[in-house]
Amino acid sequence: MDTKVYYIDEHDDEIIKKAAEVIKNGGLVVFPTETVYGLGANALDENACKKIFEAKGRPQDNPLIVHVADFDISKYVDYIPDNAKKIMENFWPGPITMVLKKSQIVPMLVTANLDSVAIRMPSNKVARKLIEYSNVPIAAPSANISGRPSPTTIEHTIEDLNGKVDMIIGGDKCEFGLESTVVEVLDDKVTILRPGAITKDMLEEIGLTVDIDPAILKKPDGSLKPKSPGMKYRHYAPKADMTIITGRIDRTVDYINHKINELKMQGKMVGVLATDETKHLYNGGYIISVGTREKLGLIAANLFDTLREFDKIDVDYIYAEGFSEEGLGLAIMNRMKKAASYNIINL
Ligand code: TXA
Ligand code: MG
Repeated sequence: MDTKVYYIDEHDDEIIKKAAEVIKNGGLVVFPTETVYGLGANALDENACKKIFEAKGRPQDNPLIVHVADFDISKYVDYIPDNAKKIMENFWPGPITMVLKKSQIVPMLVTANLDSVAIRMPSNKVARKLIEYSNVPIAAPSANISGRPSPTTIEHTIEDLNGKVDMIIGGDKCEFGLESTVVEVLDDKVTILRPGAITKDMLEEIGLTVDIDPAILKKPDGSLKPKSPGMKYRHYAPKADMTIITGRIDRTVDYINHKINELKMQGKMVGVLATDETKHLYNGGYIISVGTREKLGLIAANLFDTLREFDKIDVDYIYAEGFSEEGLGLAIMNRMKKAASYNIINL
């Protein structure tokens, strides 16, 4: 397939309208959002959505998020709990997805046969215009080949999906760089199924009772079935074997330096996911700073790009400094743990 790529911003209405035509005609469009790039199709067109699964190589049992530009979501859901209204008022448009009871018009393919549907209103202006001009809700997973790190730049989407979609639009690097927080919303409480930029604390601050799905805190072992099917897959995986080192930072640096030396003697190249605070402390190896520990938001925004860079350099092993799981750290560590297949050493 001949993929048309357009570098644009939110003022390029003509191109966004062209992309909307593609969506209306049942095609696939890659577009930017504030979290990660999405691979979109008309959410009400089952055949169009089928192509999303094919282009990504995505398992059929992993449901898609439906993206809207209008606060009136009553057509797509059976029931809107007061807690959902609160979340919409406080955090939409923005990086939080709500799982609600679905209505009839949402195809079963989109929800992978679940009776719930995931809905989000992105804040990115290109994304919003695309949805408005298409005049339909847009089903969109992250625009990566299944299993690879999610795309935070247009170049990442070209790497993965050129030739597999009709159109790719965008240009800006994604503001948050981690996928949206996914919450199941009920009358009495909300449960975080996937951590993201909207944190547990932020949800509690607006008066909600918040649980965290226990399946996201530990390695999947079959005993806990995640409520978000996507959380059970190995994900975000770089090619190299990755290990996260947690605990005191001085010990972490010593340990990683020891590994760099040991593996160098075996002819192996080590990539180090470091921080601004530590990057000058490593001897040898391929060092990438993911940002400063003072700004977790920047670390989140750089994480997937850093994992892709290790792939390009083709390192044999990745050693990564860990982060505290407070606030946004929970989402960062959740993605890192998956990338490392839960290979963690605590010093
Ligand atoms: O930030 C994002 O959410 C990005 C951008 C493009 O909006 N999209 C994204 O989509 O990350 P995807 O498909 O990569 O991840 C969707 C997650 C998966 O873990 C999926 O299992 C979960 O949402 N999900 C979707 N529908 C669900 C449902 N009805 N119940 C529970 N989990 C659901
Ligand atoms: Mg994804």
